[in-house]
Amino acid sequence: MVLDHYNPPFHTHKKPKNLSLKNASTIRIYMLKFSKVFLVIIFQLVIIHYIYQSPSKPSSSSSIHQDTTQQILGPKSNDRCKHGTVYVYNLPAKFNQDLLDHCANLDPWHSRCKAVTNHGLGPMAAGLSNVVPENLSPAWYWTDMFAGEVLYHSRMLRHACRTTESETATAFYIPFYAGLAVGRYLFTNYSAQDRDASCAELLHWVSDQPPWRRSRGADHFIMLGRMTWDFRRSRDADWGSGFIYMPQMKHVLRLGVERDPWDPLEVSVPYPTGFHPRSDWELVQWMEYVRTVNRTNRFTFVGGKRQMKGDFRTILQEHCRDESGSCRVVDCSGTRCYDGTSEILEAFLASDFCLQPRGDAHTRRSTFDCMLAGSIPVFFWKRSIHNQYEWFLGDEPGRFSIFIDRRAVRNGTTSIRTVLESFSRDEVRRKREKLISLMPKFVYTSGQDGTAKDAFDFAIDGVLRRLHKRG
Ligand SMILES: *[C@@H]1O[C@H](CO)[C@@H](O)[C@H](O)[C@H]1NC(C)=O
Ligand SMILES: *[C@@H]1O[C@H](CO)[C@@H](O)[C@H](O)[C@H]1NC(C)=O
Ligand SMILES: *[C@@H]1O[C@H](CO)[C@@H](O)[C@H](O)[C@H]1NC(C)=O
Repeated sequence: MVLDHYNPPFHTHKKPKNLSLKNASTIRIYMLKFSKVFLVIIFQLVIIHYIYQSPSKPSSSSSIHQDTTQQILGPKSNDRCKHGTVYVYNLPAKFNQDLLDHCANLDPWHSRCKAVTNHGLGPMAAGLSNVVPENLSPAWYWTDMFAGEVLYHSRMLRHACRTTESETATAFYIPFYAGLAVGRYLFTNYSAQDRDASCAELLHWVSDQPPWRRSRGADHFIMLGRMTWDFRRSRDADWGSGFIYMPQMKHVLRLGVERDPWDPLEVSVPYPTGFHPRSDWELVQWMEYVRTVNRTNRFTFVGGKRQMKGDFRTILQEHCRDESGSCRVVDCSGTRCYDGTSEILEAFLASDFCLQPRGDAHTRRSTFDCMLAGSIPVFFWKRSIHNQYEWFLGDEPGRFSIFIDRRAVRNGTTSIRTVLESFSRDEVRRKREKLISLMPKFVYTSGQDGTAKDAFDFAIDGVLRRLHKRG
């Protein structure tokens, strides 16, 4: 974007310097003869030198970026590990690595190999160069919404507060890819035993480890890449695995993309989105881009209809089509919106608001895609945002989102367009600024050294704070 501005040609002040060294004697003659003219030239050279001095050196140029990023992201804290360290179990490969090695068989219909590639970031995104600033397009991936457990494991192994000494650790991380292990058994005709087998085996293994025996798992944590409901089967005939209800799980802290709001041992963490900045400067550039991008639609609805009677998403899609002057539809019926289309990002970037009905669960990855694009989410279920993501988004969702009563939409007494158009430019700007200020906390960076804390770091800080208090 503005990078070129900071990188004027290198030679601007070097050439004159050379001249004055090599041709010193000639210059002295000129100086006597044309002293006035020369003084003017010198003066100009000094000015040029002064203007270009700092930006023309790469190191100072990045220090300008540093100043800007520091202003926006805050100073780097040096309080790392003040709440202790994390021990990462080295699990038998069948609980993690083998699942990646057999990624083609993780789900009954598709290969999951792309989803788990690049340490969970997924394949690099192509086709975004017209949608995002060109120098940021390499920071985009087609990240799978359920790849968090791979991403967290990879990041945890590189975390500054990881320890290999289990005697001194505050927290114990179990890098079991429960969502991947269970995913293939969720949908088709598998038995409850099939859906529980690897979870039971894992707990059998871990509960035999000395750190576990000391605390009965109370200082242990795990990251679940899928919603908690996929692990809460209480009767054989119901959905999901029974992992969380297994007795050994009773004290284990769980991070996951949607928590059970009534379970104090669960913490929800942001769904991974496609943007993984490689530096603080890239993140800051993106924040500035969504602040200034030209939004031509009041709102957008990205989603698919379902063939159910009274399906709320169908109502929203139809409303959006009826109000095509201010709403933009991206129809995701069928499999059209599987990772790999730029149309969604484009729609969010072009809209002030985005409609976020519940999906199969109350929360959606789409909410984070929307917020990342600086578009204000409109919720219809309180449970889509209340008591979720508080470590990252705070506990006042009204500051960055809108709530509309779905019953009033259904019975026709409320028009979404009318509600959204009643917000002034200033109110929209305030909510968007709030979203932008939260971005560093809900984005997952690529995890390079030296970047500011991201969603993953805030999650681990939170775990350590909590387990430190306990100890
Ligand atoms: C599902 O599995 C059960 C028991 O294995 C079997 O009786 C039933 O016919 C299967 N149903 C389908 C639709 O395959
Ligand atoms: C924003 O979009 C509108 C409508 O497409 C266009 O008329 C306007 O010139 C654009 N403004 C900028 C700054 O690009
Ligand atoms: C429509 O729904 C809203 C919200 O539940 C309710 O307050 C209102 O009375 C309803 N109006 C009619 C005409 O049913």
